[in-house]
Amino acid sequence: MSRIPEAFVEEVVTRSDIVEVIGARVPLKKKGKEFAACCPFHQEKTPSFYVTPDKQFYHCFGCGAHGNVVGFLMEYDHLDFPTAIEHLAGRLGLEIPREKGDQEKLDRIGRLRQVTATAADWFRGNLRSHPEAIDFLKQRGLTGETAARFALGFAPPGNHLESALGSKASGEELVATGLLVERDDGQRYDRFRARVIFPIRDPRGHVIGFGGRVIGAGEPKYLNSPETELFHKGQGVYGLYESRRVDQRPEALLVVEGYMDVILLAQYGIPHVVATLGTATTTEQLDLLYRQTDRLVFCFDGDSAGRRAAVKALQVALPLLQDGRDLRFAFLPEGEDPDSFVQANGRDGFQRFVEHNALGFDRFLTLHLDEATPSDDTAARARKNKQAHQLIERMPQGSLRRLTARQVDRHHGLFGRPMREQPAAPGPTAARRPPPQRSEELALLHLLLEHPHLTERVRSPDVWHAGTPPAVIERLLADALTEADRLAAAEQRIVGIENPEIAATMLSDILEKRRQRQVLVEKKRRQRSGLAGEENGQDSP
Ligand code: UTP
Ligand code: MN
Repeated sequence: MSRIPEAFVEEVVTRSDIVEVIGARVPLKKKGKEFAACCPFHQEKTPSFYVTPDKQFYHCFGCGAHGNVVGFLMEYDHLDFPTAIEHLAGRLGLEIPREKGDQEKLDRIGRLRQVTATAADWFRGNLRSHPEAIDFLKQRGLTGETAARFALGFAPPGNHLESALGSKASGEELVATGLLVERDDGQRYDRFRARVIFPIRDPRGHVIGFGGRVIGAGEPKYLNSPETELFHKGQGVYGLYESRRVDQRPEALLVVEGYMDVILLAQYGIPHVVATLGTATTTEQLDLLYRQTDRLVFCFDGDSAGRRAAVKALQVALPLLQDGRDLRFAFLPEGEDPDSFVQANGRDGFQRFVEHNALGFDRFLTLHLDEATPSDDTAARARKNKQAHQLIERMPQGSLRRLTARQVDRHHGLFGRPMREQPAAPGPTAARRPPPQRSEELALLHLLLEHPHLTERVRSPDVWHAGTPPAVIERLLADALTEADRLAAAEQRIVGIENPEIAATMLSDILEKRRQRQVLVEKKRRQRSGLAGEENGQDSP
């Protein structure tokens, strides 16, 4: 798109009424010369968000958000700059001045969008007359309502599209949208045949491409639209439009791998989900997603392919991790994907799993390096620390980057870098390592903090076998953990802790070790008191 002339932008901004534009989205109350509301950009109970008509500006005294009418629209409606201007110009009945070529291009895009929309309607209409498609969806656990929400359809076997759409689309347009494939000899045939159709929509609801899944066996399992004038694989994500219809400002977005994952999670009441559609995650996709929310949680299959995909996603995401943003990774148990997991465990089960298992990106980073190099000797730790810092260097400057660097240092046994205002950090770690017993207690705490549902198991006094729980665990159970406890626990490096099964076994192992020690202590005590009993035999009854 060509640049919009600056003079035109200025005119749009001057002529737009910021109070009207914001007032249509946020309930404004007049306060003297200004208008106030609870800030739409952060959580608050008393209004600190002010709109000043004189200056045509808004400002939030709570979170510092401020800007003009264009900035507001970009933030609130998640628009890019040209789209925000287009929107405002539209309200004012102004036409954006464009070069002739641009106008032609826009007309062309508009035409192609009509073609994909018409095709999507036709696919959708086919469902009714094809019980085999309905059966497939039912067997996958989908309701009719869900199918409608995602505008699912069916492409019957054979070649029908060109005649079915008739005058509504030319053959050339059907080829240009990827719906028809043109062979070298000029013959055209339907790209999608005998497949359930998933329309892929852009954030504003335009159908830009399609995915088609075989019903029954067949290769490939999923067929997607090729790159077209409308569809750029690395840019779009599946499910964003549908998710935004439920909530424009989700607290977090879950990123999964497949169509069915998005759809089933939505059906189970988890609507804030998008899919990257089998391709590696790109910067453009993450940019788009971080414009919707500050928190992304990637949810991958627990297999090695899932691990690899996660590492790639991490590498792409690091440069985008400015302060305020958050990135987490959750790995499902081996053999499960979000679709199967939510059907087996329900909405709460899925959410609990993700909540308990999502690793902060820094934890995932060190875990990944530890898995690649399990050795824990000093040289290995130094090497891993270096690798970790090379990754962290991709992050933008800021507190998050500094904190991540420190966390990584700590993980590898360095206690933070000496900071200018502080005395130099004390020497080698070994000297400061907690004694074994203490580190066992901290590991225990770490496990329980990562997997809170395991806490139930240590509540019963029985598990301590007449001993007392360690003080940190007593504090945990009494909700009285200190920040120092948490920090110390977080420093425990436990490979594989994110896996709930491994975590549960580790807990059992530690408890068993403690039990055995306790038994030994008891035995010694009895022996001693037994000896004592013999010595003072005459006093006994
Ligand atoms: P999966 O193979 O994990 O499929 O691919 P799935 O989503 O679990 O499919 P179901 O449950 O068997 O229906 C994950 C995603 O990778 C892309 C698709 O976007 C799919 O949803 N993919 C997969 C393709 O594009 N082509 C393929 O042949 C396979
Ligand atoms: Mn699946």
